[in-house]
Amino acid sequence: MLCVFDKVSSTNDLAKRLAGTGAPEGTVVVSRKQSMGKGRFGRRWISPSGGLWASLLLRPKTSQNIALLPILAGIATAKAVEEVALVKVKLKWPNDLLIGNRKLGGVLVESCYSGTQLRGAIVGLGINVRNSSLDLPKRLKTRAVSLRDIGREVAELDLLQHILDHVGSRYELFRTGKIEFLQREWRQLSSEVGKRLLVKTSGNICEGLATGIDSDGALLVKISTGSTVRVLSSDQLAHFQ
Ligand code: BTN
Repeated sequence: MLCVFDKVSSTNDLAKRLAGTGAPEGTVVVSRKQSMGKGRFGRRWISPSGGLWASLLLRPKTSQNIALLPILAGIATAKAVEEVALVKVKLKWPNDLLIGNRKLGGVLVESCYSGTQLRGAIVGLGINVRNSSLDLPKRLKTRAVSLRDIGREVAELDLLQHILDHVGSRYELFRTGKIEFLQREWRQLSSEVGKRLLVKTSGNICEGLATGIDSDGALLVKISTGSTVRVLSSDQLAHFQ
């Protein structure tokens, strides 16, 4: 089911409501604009017309490996953008899509539970397509990029179709527990793997080489003692070039 709107508060919120009323797996909500688009950590996601603002409802049977859903969505989106816009996209852990070092978009996955039972996962995608980064607030202007900014004219719904195709094939692997393929694809697309990082956790600071992600979506960093540190999304990362 594809639900297309002119303006909604947040496609994730609407998809969540539809999930609660029994909408089937594969339901997609897409809107030309969002008035209250949400980013990670409760941040606002500015969503003018021209961007791809969409949410996909999935209903995994269990919450096993659920933390890999944003990874799966990031990979699928990167592959789709590469296909339709012929441009190299990198994934910055955990959920950013980059062209060069500027942010093309991001993924926000929200899970719905009743009690401890997983009812659904909403995969929200925000991609700058035909909007211009020049229209963003000053602090974001130089950090964001759209496909139009780099001279690629792509229709949002065309991109969405390619993304959904790439999600579909990978979701089958995810559901059957074949996550190694996703971990491998992620390593290939990662902007961090092979680079030295400084990791700041609540009680510690360490330096090491990013090597991949585990089944919980944690970033793996090999430190000088030879052991591997798992970085969680609440930890802070700095990059050495
Ligand atoms: C991030 O912080 O990088 C993730 C941003 C995700 C934004 C998308 S836009 C469509 C969907 N609906 C929302 O409210 N947020 C996500």
